[in-house]
Formats: sequence, structure tokens, C-alpha cells
Amino acid sequence: MRRVITYGTFDLLHYGHINILRRAKELGDYLIVALSTDEFNEKEKGKKTYFPYEKRKQLLEAIRYVDLVIPENSWGQKNTDIDEFKCDVFVMGDDWKGRFDFLKDKCEVVYLSRTPEISTTKIKEDLQLHTK
Ligand code: CTP
Repeated sequence: MRRVITYGTFDLLHYGHINILRRAKELGDYLIVALSTDEFNEKEKGKKTYFPYEKRKQLLEAIRYVDLVIPENSWGQKNTDIDEFKCDVFVMGDDWKGRFDFLKDKCEVVYLSRTPEISTTKIKEDLQLHTK
């Protein structure tokens, strides 16, 4: 079985997220999403999510491409996750291109192109505009 892992916040789930999850799953048979916890988002990524971790996890688990959701608590856990879950492929959107090449001695590293013109940030900004 070919196992794929990807990381992210996946707040206000949108079609860009669905696209990357679908394409990530196509690279193997089993897709693991390491989902940034609320604390990791706030302290390390400078993001305050709209949906808390448990709700974001519930949404991801309802997607047919996703087999397992685990917490992402630190930048440094990728090496140990890849070992623990015996991952063959590490996938990220190309906004992270090159940043995880150091994992190439452990597994295949793939950067997928982002879906244009949609992001959680954009949704938040657009909705703010519409309520003014
Ligand atoms: N992603 C994508 N296409 C988009 C938006 C996100 O492929 N239009 C991918 C990212 O590259 C990442 C994953 O989805 O691999 C999770 O991204 P995340 O940062 O949670 O979503 P964004 O919408 O980019 O959120 P933000 O605006 O807060 O950065």
C-alpha cells in the first residue's frame, strides 16, 4: 500500500482544498492529513481559525479521499510522522515549493500546483467586504 501524507490548516474548507486532497490521494492508496491544531496555528503560523480543530477534523474525515487525520503540533514532526505512518509520498501545495526538499532522503516529495484565486484568507476578506 502506498501511503501519502499532507499538512495544512484547512479552515473554511473550500474547493482548492478538495482539489489538492483529490490529487494527493491519486498519488497513492491511503491519504493522511496532518491537521494544524489551534495552538500551532496561533503560536507558529499566526493564524486564528474560524472553525476549531475538532470541527476542521470532522469536515476532513467526511471527505472520501481522506483516510486518517492526525494533529500537527510542530514544524519538526514531519520526519517522525513519515517514519511512524510509513509514508511513501509527502505532498504540499506549491506555495511551499522547495521548503521540504530535505525530506527527499525519506520519501518522495511532491509539490502540487494550487487552485487559482481561492484561499481561506480570500473568503474571510470577501465576506468582510460584503458585511460592511
Ligand atoms: N491549497 C491549494 N489551493 C488553494 C488553497 C490551498 O492547493 N487555492 C492547498 C495548500 O497549498 C495546502 C493545503 O491546500 O497544501 C492547505 O492549505 P491552507 O493553508 O490550509 O489553505 P489556504 O486556503 O491557503 O489558507 P490561508 O489563506 O489561511 O493561507
